[in-house]
Amino acid sequence: MQGIREIASGLKEFERISAHSHITGLGLDGLKAKKEGDGLVGQVEAREAAGLVVRLVKSGKFAGRGVLIAGPPGTGKTAIALGIAKELGKDVPFVPITASEIYSSEMKKTEFLTQALRKAIGVRIREYRKVYEGVVEDIKINYMPHPYNPYYKIPQEAVITIATKQEKKTLSVDQNYAMQLVQLGVEKNDVIQIDVDGKRIVKVGKSEEAKKSDYIATEEYVPVPDGSVFKEKEFVYTVTLHELDVINARRGTDLFSIFFGATSREIDNELRSKIDETVKEWVSEGRAEIIPGVLFIDECSMLDIDAFAFLNRAMEQDLAPIIIFATNRGFTKIKGTDITSPHGMPLDLLDRLLIINTKPYERDEIRRIIEIRASKEKVNLSSEALELLTDIGYKTSLRHAMQLIAPAYEVAKERGREKIEKEDIEFVSRLFVDVKRSSEYLRSYEDKMLK
Ligand SMILES: Nc1ncnc2c1ncn2[C@@H]1O[C@H](COP(=O)(O)OP(=O)(O)O)[C@@H](O)[C@H]1O
Ligand SMILES: [Mg+2]
Repeated sequence: MQGIREIASGLKEFERISAHSHITGLGLDGLKAKKEGDGLVGQVEAREAAGLVVRLVKSGKFAGRGVLIAGPPGTGKTAIALGIAKELGKDVPFVPITASEIYSSEMKKTEFLTQALRKAIGVRIREYRKVYEGVVEDIKINYMPHPYNPYYKIPQEAVITIATKQEKKTLSVDQNYAMQLVQLGVEKNDVIQIDVDGKRIVKVGKSEEAKKSDYIATEEYVPVPDGSVFKEKEFVYTVTLHELDVINARRGTDLFSIFFGATSREIDNELRSKIDETVKEWVSEGRAEIIPGVLFIDECSMLDIDAFAFLNRAMEQDLAPIIIFATNRGFTKIKGTDITSPHGMPLDLLDRLLIINTKPYERDEIRRIIEIRASKEKVNLSSEALELLTDIGYKTSLRHAMQLIAPAYEVAKERGREKIEKEDIEFVSRLFVDVKRSSEYLRSYEDKMLK
């Protein structure tokens, strides 16, 4: 099967973002953070700081700079970085990587970083295309086991019914499209376009007709299209510079491997400059627009001095994404040197960064975040179950509490319920421990062994 490797690595990115699928922005009112908004709760100062960063970026005053979000684990660093990308606009790429990945990859670290940077720059292109267009009336996705990991299911094909005001069509689509449908989170009442020649799906917005009066969504509402389902019209889509690199580096590549990203191949830098020139030409002809996105580098204290130097230079280029670093380390050695520095980062890089701190959550905030997450996962929690999860989240970590939701739901179903009760949470929290307890447990053994 073609592109299995690509699927495997693409799914990693996909999973990484899906833990934050409830986040649609920073939840701001002007520059002030609402108590809760766009899926985000609390962390008011950090969100307001992030909002200011968005302003600076949008007004072109952020060139050559970056952001560092520093705070304890599970305090929303990734969530806020994603919120920034969402606030920057529709189709703005968000590319989350972890510093340690750079070293585990088969690629040279500069190649890995270059690809990551180019994945975080979008190019919005307008063209006349033959498309299927309509509002989704029905969608059914069939799954198959992941080729490497049969316990994990991936989309295999889909059947989708879309309609205009006058016509309705049911289409069977292959794996490539099915994956795009999943990745875009296409649901009933979404208006979509399918470009057959480009093998690409675009989510235009939500149907106005499905708008509920008491429901506020961040997605755009659009009219149900007119005319035939299949038609020729202006098709607007966003690709990344990396996708353009890949398409041109490998003729005959299908979108299957492009959407599920990261080829492990190295790409010629000459080809990259050609692509950049072409894109700039399109921009000057008004056919395309450049959309700088966000490259999010988690656990950045793990980067070495070479990687920092490389990123420092990358920030100065004209085609650069916004780089957001995150760390939970204080003073530590810069990897590859004997120098101790704040967050293990070189001072000349730190000079370019605006630093945002995230703080541990209050109990009420934890409760609310769990509630939001459960409703996003379409899981019902009794109020006692929610209270217990909140306790667990407060005493251990938010992430641990959230991780208990899925197994607790399995237990509830086994016990013939749709709603998770306190006893289900008690049951799974005896079985699964948080990181701290688990490492303390092993440490107690290590101490015994040393004696
Ligand atoms: N303020 C918040 N509001 C809503 N959800 C949050 C908030 N902070 C964190 N989360 C969610 O909690 C989980 C852990 O947060 P995460 O952003 O991964 O923390 P960190 O990156 O600091 O370790 C994620 O699923 C995230 O989306
Ligand atoms: Mg994180």
